[in-house]
This record gives sequence, structure tokens and C-alpha cells, in this order.
Amino acid sequence: MAVKFLDLTAQNRAIAARVAREFEAIHAATSYAGGPAVAAFEQEFAHYLGVRHVVGVSSGTDALRLALLALGIGPGDGVITVPMTFIATAAAIVQTGAVPEFVDVDPVTCNLSPRALLRYLEAGRFRSPNGPRAIVPVDLYGLPCAIDQIMEIARRFKLMVVEDACQAHGAELKTARGWVKAGSCADAGCFSFYPGKNLGAWGDGGAVATNDERAAVLVSKLRDHGRTSHYGHDLFGYNARLDTLQAAVLRAKLAHLEEWNARRREIAARYRQLLGASGLLMPAEPEGLRSCYHLFTIRSRKREDIRAALVGAGIGYNIHYPLALHLQPAAARLGYHPGEFPVSEQIAETTLSLPMYPHLSGADVETVAAAVRAAL
Ligand SMILES: Cc1ncc(COP(=O)(O)O)c(C=O)c1O
Repeated sequence: MAVKFLDLTAQNRAIAARVAREFEAIHAATSYAGGPAVAAFEQEFAHYLGVRHVVGVSSGTDALRLALLALGIGPGDGVITVPMTFIATAAAIVQTGAVPEFVDVDPVTCNLSPRALLRYLEAGRFRSPNGPRAIVPVDLYGLPCAIDQIMEIARRFKLMVVEDACQAHGAELKTARGWVKAGSCADAGCFSFYPGKNLGAWGDGGAVATNDERAAVLVSKLRDHGRTSHYGHDLFGYNARLDTLQAAVLRAKLAHLEEWNARRREIAARYRQLLGASGLLMPAEPEGLRSCYHLFTIRSRKREDIRAALVGAGIGYNIHYPLALHLQPAAARLGYHPGEFPVSEQIAETTLSLPMYPHLSGADVETVAAAVRAAL
């Protein structure tokens, strides 16, 4: 393939020596669950995000599920989220027994529209027996959602906020406290360490970030069978721990995250230069938001032509996401209809993600841009 959609081999080379040393120590101790590597990663990631607590868990989906459970969300509760996201956002809500209630995204940022959220809450026609108890906004493609406005609305309506930052490791936003990291401002922020993420493991992993000590303690218990001691259990929990070997990989990659995100931002700037005049809709980056460019996602009515040109040139691409969640068969029982969330539906019809990873070369970026331009 001329340019792969994603290639992690150079990242792996950069961390290979350190990871080999850390794996050797873990093998020598034959300590594969919990242990110092997990605790060290949690501390380092908490410091990086500027939050008091990080609890490592087994995936981004489990991070969302356990955070919601720890904040008291359960059967009959409504949890507001967006239809333009990966299915796991809504699946985690369903797993707690709660009901996802969709609100459309903003056409510029592709993230939860604060205006639509306010309209929905004020209209008061809810789909869950108990009405909304929480909001799960998503930092789609690596662009932080409007968390300040969402938190303000949430407080007014007495709702908890769990930020789905599964695509936003290292993204930043300007607040009254200065620039802060995505995932650090809500009641809890949830991260996925799926291999292709900006901070990705060599398998599955996830984390909950929070300043709420009670929630952190509860997530720690829920992820590990409700343990207070090896065979002492406060509650019926789950087996949802962050794997020790993955924690060693994550520690090594975290040390490179800022440098790798900076390179992603350079690549994004170059794509903008090369494609800016071609009539495509580029990813928005409004004042006060700094994307970590997990994905570089363009929008065009000519998506089919662009797609054909990329395939012809041997260039990888992806569609995030081809169907808004309310139209997925899995969501049929929620009772939504086509046309209910026009912005999400239009994004699904026009979006296309170009190759984006820190080790993409300048020549690769030019090859991709030339293929896209040729299609227009
Ligand atoms: C927005 C979003 N939410 C949740 C998840 C779920 O994370 P995981 O695959 O680690 O369970 C992902 C991961 O792809 C994601 O992109």
C-alpha cells in the first residue's frame, strides 16, 4: 500500500527497548495483575492530565460504564449523548441499565451542541422513565467538546457529566484556569487505550480520570470484584482491571505523547495548506480548542469520488462513522427515526478520515493530498 491508514511500527520501535526492560521486570516478579506498573502509570497519567485521580481499567467502554455506575447512574435513568460517535459511548450507557437519549451535534465541531442540549432539557419530553441524570459528551476525532458550557447547563439541571475523551489524549481547551487537558473538567473523563489511539496499548485498556475521590474509590472497587482485600468484597463488581503489561507499554508511550501530538498537529496544518482551497470541509478548530488530531476527518459531497481516488492510489482511509447511532439496528428498540438528527446524519454521509499518525512522512501527506485533489 502506498500510504497506510495507520502504521504503528515506528511507535513500537521508539518504545521497544524500554518496554523490553519493563516486561523483564514483570516476568521476573511473575506479577501480572495490578502491581507497581499500573500504579505508576495511573500516577503519571493523572499528572499529565492535571487531575487528582486516574484509575486504569480494561477498556474505554468499561471506563464509561464504571464511571457512570460510580456516579450513581442505573436502571431507568436517562443519559444524554450524541448519535455521531462510536457505538461504545451508547453501549456503556445501556450496560448500566440506563437509556441513551440522543441530542444532535454542532455542524461545525461535530460535538454535542450546547444549544440543542439546552433546548432538549427545556422541552422536557424525555425518553427514560426517570428522565436525564447524566450527560456523556464526546471529544470526537480529538477535538474537545464545549465542556464549560455543558458543565454549566448540567449544573443548572442537576446532571452529572462523564466526558468521553476516548479519542482525545492530550487535546486541550482554554478555560478560566488557563489551558487544560480534555477529560479533566467533567465529573469524570474516560479514555480508551485501544492500539490505534494517540495513547494506545498493545491490546485493550482504558482509564477514568476524576477529581472526585469518592468516584475514584468506587471505580477502583468496581474494576476489581469490589475488593477490599484478596477475598474481602464490599460489593459485587467486575473484572475490568488495566492489564499490567499494558500499563508498561502505556508508560513508555506517555513519555512520547506530547511530541507525537505535536507532529500530528504539523501534519494537520500541512493537510490544511494542501487541501484548504479545494472546497472540502476541513476539521474545525475553534478559538480556545486545540485538537490532538486523533483523526483528520474531511467532509465532502464528493466522498465517493475521493474514496475511489484513494483506493486507486493505494491509500488507506476510513469512515467515522458511516451510520449515526440512532439508525443502527442495535438502537431500533430506542424508537428513533431517520431525519431526527439531521446534522449527525449529514456527517455520516459526507465524512472521510485521511491517514493521520505521527510517523507519516511529509511525502506521504503530499501523496494523500494529491490523490484527494485529483478527485475534486
Ligand atoms: C468515542 C469512543 N468512545 C468509546 C470508545 C471505546 O473504547 P474501547 O474500544 O477501548 O472500549 C472508543 C474507542 O474506539 C471511542 O472512539
